[in-house]
Amino acid sequence: MPTASELDAITLDQLRASGSVKWTAFGEAIGAFVAEMDFGTAPAVTRAAHEAVDRGLLGYLPDHATADLQRAYTGFAKRRFGWSPDPERVRPVPDVLAAFEAVVRHLTPDGSPVILPTPAYMPFAPLLRDLGREVIEVPLARDGGPLTHDLDGIDAAFAAGARLLVLVNPHNPTGRVFERDELEAVAAVVERHGGRVFADEIHAPLVYAGRAHVPYASVSAVAAGHAVTATSASKAWNIPGLKAAQLILTDDDAAQVWRRAGVWTEHLTSTVGVLAHTAAYDDGEGWLAQVLAYLDGNRRLTAEHLARHAPAVGHTPPEGTYLAWLDLRPLGLDQPARWLREHARVALTDGEDCGRAGAGHVRLTLATPRPVLRTLLSRVTDALGARA
Ligand SMILES: Cc1ncc(COP(=O)(O)O)c(C=O)c1O
Repeated sequence: MPTASELDAITLDQLRASGSVKWTAFGEAIGAFVAEMDFGTAPAVTRAAHEAVDRGLLGYLPDHATADLQRAYTGFAKRRFGWSPDPERVRPVPDVLAAFEAVVRHLTPDGSPVILPTPAYMPFAPLLRDLGREVIEVPLARDGGPLTHDLDGIDAAFAAGARLLVLVNPHNPTGRVFERDELEAVAAVVERHGGRVFADEIHAPLVYAGRAHVPYASVSAVAAGHAVTATSASKAWNIPGLKAAQLILTDDDAAQVWRRAGVWTEHLTSTVGVLAHTAAYDDGEGWLAQVLAYLDGNRRLTAEHLARHAPAVGHTPPEGTYLAWLDLRPLGLDQPARWLREHARVALTDGEDCGRAGAGHVRLTLATPRPVLRTLLSRVTDALGARA
């Protein structure tokens, strides 16, 4: 298990040598744009991948591996969230985005608009437009408390013809972890319109002490009856390149459609990926606990650094995920991520890529060794300070 001092000791040179997209896409800039961690993965996951290669288990996904994944995921979900979906309804898919595309194509009426609370994970809107769907952006709103779903906005979007709501929890990019009553309130609106929810819970294992992830489909029979849940070990165990995720079909109608229409999506799933996910869910929680504790330190460091060195920047520490969402609107920068790449040599995600509500913001991946994070934050706040 990695200790904090071992994670601290990972150097920029080692990270660049890894050859990952995070450390090669923007030259000498510090990479903090893509949702990847700089900590490798759990030993159990590495072992499972090695064993698959050593055994030559590199063919199409066999049923016994799917059954093992279903057992491992449902065990994990019960231990971690107190949730017990039917194992047979936990389906192997190659990734969350592929599952999302299949859900939109097969489980919503042709051409129907889709509701996207914003700011949102960047690919959702362009993918939906590629699928010929109108995207109804409904900005998350603050009603005297934390950012939450705008129920009136969602209600109006369903009334305008939308059939699907994309609900990301824990939320990328803001880091919100929605509470049970917030989810129940959303479910009531969706049910009133006979709509569906794509519950993207890819960040579910990444929730900090004091908060708890509540699976949307677990809040009530009503929510389970209109939800399609997607989750994955890919963020928490840092293996998105292994191409596996899970779609959980608690809605009987959706499960029936999926049995026929989901075959081709399931067929794309990586066998090594499924074995790695199974190992993560069975034997990866110890590693995850260490990494989460380290990330907790990173999110505190980020908040403290910003408060001290760039008090004009708006920031609420994430309750889950390893993403920090920075409101730079008071600084009046046009395309702030681009500006920071040029002036701070730090590569971030521009909030505008997350929808109109993200304009003037940047998203920063804080899953990096703390000395690297300190350098990154200093570069950002020095550049902002020099401009002010
Ligand atoms: C909310 C959310 N959904 C989906 C994805 C993409 O997941 P996948 O690589 O499984 O398609 C990400 C990746 O960061 C994400 O943050």
